[in-house]
Amino acid sequence: MLTRTRGVEGLLSLLTDAVDEALIAAAPSLKVISNCAVGVDNVDLAAATRRKIPVGNTPDVLTNATADMAFALLLAAARRLVEGVAYVRAGKWKTWNFQLLLGADLEGATLGIIGFGRIGKAVAKRAKGFGLKVLFCDPSAQPEWGAMPADLETLLRGADFVSLHVPLTSDTAHLINAEALGKMKSSAILVNTSRGPIIDHQALYEALRAGRIGAAALDVTEPEPIGVDSPLLQLDNCIVLPHLGSASTRTREQMAMLAAKNLLAGLRGEALPHCVNPEVYDRGGEQMPAASSRPGQAGA
Ligand code: DGY
Repeated sequence: MLTRTRGVEGLLSLLTDAVDEALIAAAPSLKVISNCAVGVDNVDLAAATRRKIPVGNTPDVLTNATADMAFALLLAAARRLVEGVAYVRAGKWKTWNFQLLLGADLEGATLGIIGFGRIGKAVAKRAKGFGLKVLFCDPSAQPEWGAMPADLETLLRGADFVSLHVPLTSDTAHLINAEALGKMKSSAILVNTSRGPIIDHQALYEALRAGRIGAAALDVTEPEPIGVDSPLLQLDNCIVLPHLGSASTRTREQMAMLAAKNLLAGLRGEALPHCVNPEVYDRGGEQMPAASSRPGQAGA
């Protein structure tokens, strides 16, 4: 990538591309970085902003698909779907069994949502339909969908299900560590559709194996892809998917279109429809927004 980006003016990146300081420095003509994802933790925003390069992302269009996936994982872990499928495939289903693979009920249980941005709120909306009580932890968010604000400790201690919806930053890396896991109920189910490094995977493995929490359902891991030798893959109470949160046909088409629009706007020297570092437009310099358009909202 260092060689191939040297002469380019526009970069359309995926979340697997490390758009770091070295890459940005290797592209002296770069005018725009369009990341085809809502999360931009793979882009060195400070380095881009220093060069006054706007960075685009793809919010909104993937909110529902990602919230659906969080809920699919929550239900799959609560009702032990993956274990049930494995049981049938292994030829173990001999008769209906009153005690077989008993799971957790949603109605009346408490869901804790950490990070109450667009996707967190869309999960709360779904939770309301299932009769869950919802707590959320996000000092910058207002209550919606009947969700009640809570500090992190109260949420971890009180929730039957915990779903993570924070962006990955230096503040949120390993937010769910051994200490946080230790505060959760021994029956709690942890769902992660945000970014893998929000969870300390070694601590998670130990908590799952020791029964300190009930189960985990991960759409994202650290690293990605997770190694096939990861001990997490040996646990019946851990579901791991290959980062499929936004993987519906319509959503991926909309993400691609939005990323293309961001890219083309940046190449034309116009404001990106969704720009995560709009301060590049405030300080003057060569990158100026079109009079008719305004930078979009940032964040997950
Ligand atoms: C994103 O857009 O950040 C997702 O993780 C990809 O679906």
